[in-house]
Amino acid sequence: MGNPTISRRLYFLRESFRNLRSTGSVAPSSRFLCRAIVGKIDPEFTKTVVELGPGDGVITRFILERLNPDARLVIFEINEVFVEKIRATFDDPRLTVIHDSAENMGVHFQKMGIETVQYFVSGIPFIMLPESLAESITAACIQYLTPKGKFIQFHYSPFMLGFYRRVFGKVEIEVVPLNIPPALVVSCEKKQLNDMHPH
Ligand SMILES: C[S@@+](CC[C@H](N)C(=O)[O-])C[C@H]1O[C@@H](n2cnc3c(N)ncnc32)[C@H](O)[C@@H]1O
Repeated sequence: MGNPTISRRLYFLRESFRNLRSTGSVAPSSRFLCRAIVGKIDPEFTKTVVELGPGDGVITRFILERLNPDARLVIFEINEVFVEKIRATFDDPRLTVIHDSAENMGVHFQKMGIETVQYFVSGIPFIMLPESLAESITAACIQYLTPKGKFIQFHYSPFMLGFYRRVFGKVEIEVVPLNIPPALVVSCEKKQLNDMHPH
């Protein structure tokens, strides 16, 4: 029996190298990054959280710990190996695992009767993807976000910050140095009508 932390890291690394563009990192998020992300979720306000690109489920575990028993978490992951791993790891009736790209969320939400989402948590490496894909995924998130809801994304560089300011308006940034590599948590609120047309 090897060290479980090391074998988890090696397993993640193997998937990263196989799918470098879509995985976009060589290590799962640290507990410091996971805590910074879930700290932005207010459990009393939350009915539905959607996680995009959960990888091996490192943030998923923290989100489930944070949520109330009557809330739900829906996750979208394109990598089949990660999907199987998550299905084998979590036995939680609040969790729905969807093996599909985040851009198709609307079709699944319709089938599931989901009309609004309080938080999106995303680890999708938008910087490695065509901007049009980043735009269609964030547009879908904006369509479902409730007022005061948040789109929370982590990045390893500030290059995409202009993109979030343009599509969301209100953007807050937290630096998390204790991660490989150090990360930024970008937390975006949906533009409200009166933000767009101030009197
Ligand atoms: C940087 S990893 C993040 C993994 C994990 N959330 C973490 O924090 O360690 C990015 C993940 O996004 C997934 N991904 C990439 N594009 C996606 C898409 N369009 N829809 C859903 N998942 C996607 C990849 O397969 C990968 O698991």
